Amino acid sequence: METAERQRAPESGGLAIPAEGRLNLRTPTVRDGLQVNALIAASPPLDVNSAYCNLLQCTHFAETCVVATIDGELAGWVSGHLPPDQADTLFIWQVAVAASARGRGLGRRMLIELLARDACQTVRRLTTTITPDNHASWALFASLARHLDAEIVDVPWLIEGQHLSSGHATEHLVTIGPFAPTWA
Ligand SMILES: CC(C)(COP(=O)(O)OP(=O)(O)OC[C@H]1O[C@@H](n2cnc3c(N)ncnc32)[C@H](O)[C@@H]1OP(=O)(O)O)[C@@H](O)C(=O)NCCC(=O)NCCS
Repeated sequence: METAERQRAPESGGLAIPAEGRLNLRTPTVRDGLQVNALIAASPPLDVNSAYCNLLQCTHFAETCVVATIDGELAGWVSGHLPPDQADTLFIWQVAVAASARGRGLGRRMLIELLARDACQTVRRLTTTITPDNHASWALFASLARHLDAEIVDVPWLIEGQHLSSGHATEHLVTIGPFAPTWA
């Protein structure tokens, strides 16, 4: 993977993808839950969830989550949902790419794949939260905003020592949008 040449994928916005290995993006199933849980545990600074939480995402929220495999091995994960009172908004909870697959456009490609799903046809905004020191995450979502030709703004939302315990950095609510439907 590390020495693989890049190839362009015009259907995905010209994103680089691994040339080596068979990449597959799909909706998760209940069988993915434990591996997803392990990938998140291996992807600091993400908060580790209970396996039960990831199993619910892989079942009840599967249509707004993405699993990426390379040659059948789990390489990436995105969890998201449509907040009950915001049908035009996709909230992204976590994005994790296996260390060996990073820097090749997989994180951005999973998000674009998700926005193109039937479940996201009403979506015109994407929100997520990011801590100030997670440079890779800021770069990922800034890159997505550029791809969508949409504004990106953020405000402090879940505050350290108020909503979160001391020692857990403040989570900024990041909003990208409005953007045109990506499936059109
Ligand atoms: C954040 C993460 C998901 C990015 O995945 P990835 O597949 O490597 O990201 P991509 O290759 O799609 O990169 C998307 C953009 O972010 C940039 N980027 C990615 N990692 C970066 C880093 N460590 N530092 C700076 N920029 C970075 C890329 O250069 C690219 O920008 P470009 O489109 O302008 O070239 C991955 O690093 C990860 O799993 N980190 C640990 C868990 C985490 O922090 N998740 C995010 C919070 S939910």
